[in-house]
Amino acid sequence: MIDPKTVKNKALVEWVDKIASLTKPEKVVWCDGSKEEADGLFEEMIAKGACIKLNEQKRPNSYYFRSDPRDVARVEARTFICSKTKDEAGPTNNWMDPVEMKKKLNELFSGCMKGRTMFVIPFSMGPVGGPISQIGVEITDSPYVVVNMRIMARVTPKVLDILGENGKFVPCLHSVGKPINSPEDDVAWPCDPDNTYIAHFPEERLIMSIGSGYGGNALLGKKCLSLRIASAMGRDEGWLAEHMLILGVKDPKGRKTYVTGAFPSACGKTNFAMLIAPQELQKKGWQITCVGDDIAWIKPAADGKLYAINPENGFFGVAPGTSMKTNPNAMHSCEKDSIFTNVALTSDGDVWWEGMTKEPPEGLTDWHGKPWSKDSATPAAHPNSRFTAPIANCPCLDENAEKLEGVPISAIVVGGRRANGIPLVFESFNWAHGVYLGAMMGSERTAAAEGKQGELRSDPMAMLPFAGYNMARYLGHLVEMGKNLEETPRFYHVNWFRKTADGKFMWPGFGDNARVLAWIVNRRNGEAKAKETAIGCVPNYDDIDWEGLEYSKEDFEALMAFDPEIVAAQPLKDELYEQLPNALKIQRQALLERLS
Ligand code: OXD
Ligand code: MN
Repeated sequence: MIDPKTVKNKALVEWVDKIASLTKPEKVVWCDGSKEEADGLFEEMIAKGACIKLNEQKRPNSYYFRSDPRDVARVEARTFICSKTKDEAGPTNNWMDPVEMKKKLNELFSGCMKGRTMFVIPFSMGPVGGPISQIGVEITDSPYVVVNMRIMARVTPKVLDILGENGKFVPCLHSVGKPINSPEDDVAWPCDPDNTYIAHFPEERLIMSIGSGYGGNALLGKKCLSLRIASAMGRDEGWLAEHMLILGVKDPKGRKTYVTGAFPSACGKTNFAMLIAPQELQKKGWQITCVGDDIAWIKPAADGKLYAINPENGFFGVAPGTSMKTNPNAMHSCEKDSIFTNVALTSDGDVWWEGMTKEPPEGLTDWHGKPWSKDSATPAAHPNSRFTAPIANCPCLDENAEKLEGVPISAIVVGGRRANGIPLVFESFNWAHGVYLGAMMGSERTAAAEGKQGELRSDPMAMLPFAGYNMARYLGHLVEMGKNLEETPRFYHVNWFRKTADGKFMWPGFGDNARVLAWIVNRRNGEAKAKETAIGCVPNYDDIDWEGLEYSKEDFEALMAFDPEIVAAQPLKDELYEQLPNALKIQRQALLERLS
């Protein structure tokens, strides 16, 4: 706990006082991010039945939560960009006038913390004191948020030292929106789905979120600050906030190359961030390390290169599908000191989810708290159940992950889930062409997603739900950022998900994706060939290292063929396409000409 009397930042003290008098909490606690503080909160939550301590032998220092079944995911329909004008929010965001939204929220926040503790969490996104890092302060009445923020961000009193008397911070206000007026209100997972709002005020750099306790809506350092608010900061200050993983690749000559990657959800982004190269490539000296699995802040440095940091300090990963086979590094990351939400509980106090093992263990309790067996009609773990794990647990953490100035970026990988017509990999001709590939990217809907199966869901740079301002201008800013660099990273479009006519995946994926990564790195170092095609530069069969994988030239050619009609498709909604910067429209014209 921090003694509030020691807090010198005037704006912060005033803001905390103002929010306390608006929300009327029982008490105010300033958090220091310590383990002791978290232990105390876990104990209180256990006593209330809001949390279960997992088996200390099997999963040391780890805890289990079940949410209200109505509060299990980000709610895009209730996420708003409240810029001064609708035009500034653009054609892909929900907009509400900031004055109107504040009026509505002030009513909802009024007295909303009655009977609860108001926590003040000072945090840094990015290494504390780094030139790319940003300071935020979250106010919340959710102890679940406090213990998760402690893993996902750097929560420490040092942040207050850096702020000093007049330093700037991003105010992040959160409440579950359920005052305790009677003992019945003190439920395990309070939330108010009918009155949920995730509101961003980009000009003011302010976030107000009420009604949901779910990670993406409530851990405000993540999507709200690090993507929506930070993208607006980046536009104004000349940097980029991207929905990207960052990884390092050591090649056989011992050189390190850093690569970022943007993928829509359900495309294996966390798996790619923690990829393990096949044994045969490892023996030659290839090694992949992880800097981050979700967000990258990218800034040009004095040497004319782009440098990236991962603003987060943990992983908030989707549990189902994660296994020792698909992602051992993620499994090790959540072996201890982790929080699990909406997974299934085993009879010996550990966790399980679909895909963790082939056969589910006997005696599971599902995410609703009900006994579960193989014959149950619903999954044991919610499909969006999560682990919150400290990045320090990751066995393949990159040695430079904590570097204040970030790591130099040489390549940007983009892609989606495409069953037909899109090859395994192709390289952009130049930066603007690369941004065009990112702008046109998308993923086909899986059976589980809303809408028609197979239909392409456009998701420019995987930023559709996360751009804090007009998407067309965000893409324009990305184009501009490639100018005046000494060295621009190249873009690579990848597709791990192509299928044969009878529905079989054409590419093994997972560790074998390292073969593509190796080609990308070799290209970057001028050591791999490529063939120019209408869509970009592609590897020849002999340009890929096949050792340890039997993959015929014929199969590779089928995998690399492209369908001109599919490549030429323009998935953006008309209103967005019309507003795109000319540089991207020119790229489209050029592509159509090359294809004809
Ligand atoms: C996430 C997301 O949770 O992109 O990372 O939805
Ligand atoms: Mn994400």
